[in-house]
Parts: sequence; structure tokens; C-alpha cells
Amino acid sequence: MQKVTTRNFDTPNSFRIDTYIKNQGYEAARKALTQMTPAQVIDEVKNANLRGLGGAGFATGMKWSFIPKDNPKPKYLVVNGDEGEPGTFKDKYILELDPHALIEGMIITCYAIGSHKGYVYIRGEYLKSIERLRSAIQEAHQKGFLGKGIMGTSFDLEIVVHQGAGAYICGEETALLESLEGKKGFPRLKPPFPAVVGLFGCPTVINNVETLACVGPIILKGAQWYAQLGCEKNGGNRIFCVSGHVNKPGIYELPNGTTLREIIYQHAGGILNGRQLKAVIPGGISAPLLTPDQLDVKMDFDSLKAAGTMAGSGGIIVMDDSTCMVWAAMIAARFYAHESCGQCSPCREGSGWVYRNIKRIYHGEGRPVDLKNLPGIVGNIGGNTICAFGDAVTMCISSYVQKFRHEFEAHVNEEKCGLCSKHQEVAN
Ligand SMILES: Cc1cc2nc3c(=O)[nH]c(=O)nc-3n(C[C@H](O)[C@H](O)[C@H](O)COP(=O)(O)O)c2cc1C
Repeated sequence: MQKVTTRNFDTPNSFRIDTYIKNQGYEAARKALTQMTPAQVIDEVKNANLRGLGGAGFATGMKWSFIPKDNPKPKYLVVNGDEGEPGTFKDKYILELDPHALIEGMIITCYAIGSHKGYVYIRGEYLKSIERLRSAIQEAHQKGFLGKGIMGTSFDLEIVVHQGAGAYICGEETALLESLEGKKGFPRLKPPFPAVVGLFGCPTVINNVETLACVGPIILKGAQWYAQLGCEKNGGNRIFCVSGHVNKPGIYELPNGTTLREIIYQHAGGILNGRQLKAVIPGGISAPLLTPDQLDVKMDFDSLKAAGTMAGSGGIIVMDDSTCMVWAAMIAARFYAHESCGQCSPCREGSGWVYRNIKRIYHGEGRPVDLKNLPGIVGNIGGNTICAFGDAVTMCISSYVQKFRHEFEAHVNEEKCGLCSKHQEVAN
């Protein structure tokens, strides 16, 4: 298996520029800047079938092509390193172990879209990532890979690192832009889309850290090489983050289209303590649950969509048969109630309502009407809000109630399900 974004991780001092250069570092940027036109770079990324790895899976080359060429305003590239989706911890590794892969991806992307300024928005807790990226930017400046006249060409680029303050909603691209502009992280109505009216009202591309770390290898080795690593309409590999009840939690770079069974049982070493699998969240907490009968699903954007869930951020959370699903739903609901930005009433009121409802049910205080009302309350959030946070609440919580309704019923009718006593201490 050929590694792409984690290829340098095992090399000592992988985050230093000399190590990166020894391993063909910055050759892709040189090739793009000296041998390719911006349009050719965009075509190469389109043909590679690279899709955004932040969550939505939008075609990357296509997104870049939406930047208007005739708009006289500055263009910006904004990198999403907020990584707030529970179960996701891949961007952190790229930033810490291979920050130059991101910088090189940014140089190529900015060249393709005609931008001379890039921002990297990193979640506040990622102190090491921020420090490593800042010193990598300094190193790149010293070698002439950033600043004025990069590599002797007429192309200029500056990169600014911005530390977020720890709000999940600031990972949503338009809330991120508001936050970067110094305002409260409230998502914007779309349209207009950021490609037309983005940061400071200027055309802006927003991409995830991992997405941009794929760009250098695509330019260096070609679209065909990258496309064939993955599956149809979803080229390349992605970093799967596996957590929960597995023997070997961690990150695994594997081709798009690898089965969930292979990831859990071969790479992550199977279920902890020899127990049985009960449920899996395949793409960050917002992705609807899969059950053991769905383990042969291919882990790519289209196959997971066809299975009624989503590939999302690549965060796989595994739950064994000791897990009370009412408890798990309550933890997810508590997260959403806490992180709702409060701008839209259905989400602000609904997420708290859902949490209080499930909390009552979990503690054996739920009335039959609580369970009866739950699908309606949950269902009225999604589709009625400015951003996709509301949809995430609906998709996530509905899947628990639909697939494990008997456990909710047991909590209402018998006040417990036989699995939940060990969770009590974290439930309040
Ligand atoms: C509530 C919410 C949170 C999000 N959090 C993140 C995040 O932490 N990191 C990320 O890259 N994308 C996140 N996204 C997706 C972004 O809005 C956007 O689609 C992504 O950054 C685009 O980059 P990509 O095309 O490279 O995936 C989030 C979306 C929503 C609705």
C-alpha cells in the first residue's frame, strides 16, 4: 500500500524542512509554479478525483474552479484545521509531523486560484500543531519557498496561522470565516458561497488540512496515479481515525473504498477484550450509526451515502456490546446542546430539548410521551437551520432511536436496560 499523507510520519525529524526536502519536498510546488498553468493544476486535481476530507466530500478541483477570474478583489485560501468533530484526530498528526506537506499544498493551491495570502485556522487546544506549523513557515521563508518571488518565480505568498478559541461551530466554513474576521462564530447564509463572497468579502477557497496535504503528491506523481489508489469518484487514500472499543486505536491511512470490516478487524486489531461489536459511527459523531450487518460497506463518500450514513471526517468510533445506546445518544446530544451556536431557534432550543429528553429517559425518569415525542423534536431541527449543524443533530440522534429503539423503550418501561450502571459517573 502506497502512503500519501502519512508517508513521512516515521522519518525522524519529519517536521523539519531539511528532512522534507530530502524526500522530494517542494518539488511539486516547483513543478506547478514553473511548468504548469493555474488551469492545468486545477485540471490535475479534478482528474485525481480528490474530494474534500473535512466532512462534505466536495470535489476539490471543482471547488477551486468556482473562484471568479474576473473579480479584481484579492483571493484567499483558508485552511480548516479546527478538527472539532468528535472521533477525528488526523489533521493534528499532519500539522505536527509533516507541516511542510500542508505548506506545499497551500503554495500549489494559492497558485491555482490566484491567491497571495493563506490563513490556517487551527483549533485552540492544538498547541503543538500551532508551534510546529509556525516554525515550518519560518523555515520555508528562509529557503525562499514563501514570501516574495517564490523559487525565483514572480509568485508571492504569505501564510498566517490563526488560533481558534475552541468552538465546534467554528469548523463550519462560514462560521470559521466570521471568527477569522474577529466576529462571533455564527454561520452565514449561503448563497453567496465563499468562492464568490468569502473572507473579508473576497473570493475564498476553504479546504481541510488533509485535503491540501494530498495536493503535492498529486502534482508530483500525476492525477492518474492518485485516482487509481482509491475508488471510482473518490481517488486516493484517506486517514481513518479509529477510537472506542478496539484493540489498536489510532490513525490508519488506507485507500478510499476499504471495507469497514478490514479497518476494524485487520488494522485496528478487532474488538477489545474479545467482545462483540454493537455499533459503529463511521465518519465522526454526526454520521448515522452502522450495525454489525453493515460491516462490508466500502468506506468512501458514495458507498457510505448509499448505506444511509456518511464518510464525514473519517472518524470511526467503535462501540461493543457493553454499550448502552441511550447513554451513547445522551452523550452525543449533550455535545450538540453545548455546541449549538444559538443563532437558529430550531437548533438552539431543539438541541437542549433533545438532550433533556434523552437524559430523563436514560435516568429512568422518562415518560412514554418523551419517547413518542423524540423523533418529532429531532426531526424538526434538520433542514430548518442556516448551517448543517442542525442536520447533524437530526441524522445522528435519529439513528440511535431508530436502530436501538428497544433500549430506549427498556429505559422508559423498566427504568434501565441492564447495561448502563457503569456509565453513571459520566452521565450527569
Ligand atoms: C458543524 C460543522 C463543523 C465542521 N467542522 C469541520 C472541521 O472541524 N474541520 C473541517 O475541515 N471541516 C469541518 N466542517 C466542514 C466545513 O464546513 C467544510 O466543508 C470543509 O472545511 C471544506 O473543506 P474540504 O472541502 O477540504 O473538506 C464542518 C461542518 C459543519 C457543518
